[in-house]
Amino acid sequence: MTFQEKLEKNIWGLIAMVAIVVSVGGIVEIVPLFYLDNTIEKLTKEEDSIRPYTALELEGRDVYIREGCYLCHSQMIRPFRDEKERYGHYSLAAESKYDHPFQWGSKRTGPDLARVGGKYSNEWHVQHLRAPRSLVPESVMPDYAFFEKHMLDGVLTEKKMRALAAVGVPYTDADFAGAAAAVRGKNEMDAVVAYLQVLGTMVKFEPGKDYRE
Ligand code: HEC
Repeated sequence: MTFQEKLEKNIWGLIAMVAIVVSVGGIVEIVPLFYLDNTIEKLTKEEDSIRPYTALELEGRDVYIREGCYLCHSQMIRPFRDEKERYGHYSLAAESKYDHPFQWGSKRTGPDLARVGGKYSNEWHVQHLRAPRSLVPESVMPDYAFFEKHMLDGVLTEKKMRALAAVGVPYTDADFAGAAAAVRGKNEMDAVVAYLQVLGTMVKFEPGKDYRE
């Protein structure tokens, strides 16, 4: 019998070994966090224009979550050359500091969307969401034409903002007061497009420069 076979037949030995292996993994991941003041990098004043989502963007984000867009799209550009060349500067933790829950995702059936803001026009997004295959014939993305038929009523917008404020998102009284009016007369298509257009645009990166270089 090999060591492995003996271990697999000895429940206490197996438990002890699993505990050792898991603790080593845990220590390597967790201990560094005690020595870091902050896991969110500090941005300079000029770079830090990260703001909470507007009422309309927030409603768009909720549609994004409801429809499970995150099951096919990540919002997390990793610091590897191939990713940076395709999607732009890698994602900073600071960029999702007001995202509750964050939409990093882990599945890329479609492209990463962390910096899709400003890549296309609003008209492109509307057409693409209505009928993805009219623009990208080989696309497997579902049609979302019904977004245009769903009007936003804004009944919960203020409450959603208050819930986010409770976990530290700096919404102001003016934001709460204007929330319902800001989404009145808009539909889900407007909201999703507003949300997509702001993704990755809040920090102004110098072209070609890496944040930590
Ligand atoms: C079944 C998987 C799937 C789902 C669900 C999905 N997408 Fe996609 N998406 C794709 C694929 C594949 C592409 C690439 C082909 C294309 O552009 O249509 C894509 C492309 C995109 C693009 C263009 C990205 C670029 O850089 O060219 C955007 C924007 C987008 N999707 C938004 C969304 C939104 C918003 C939702 C939810 C309402 C969503 N997707 C749901 C698969 C999906």
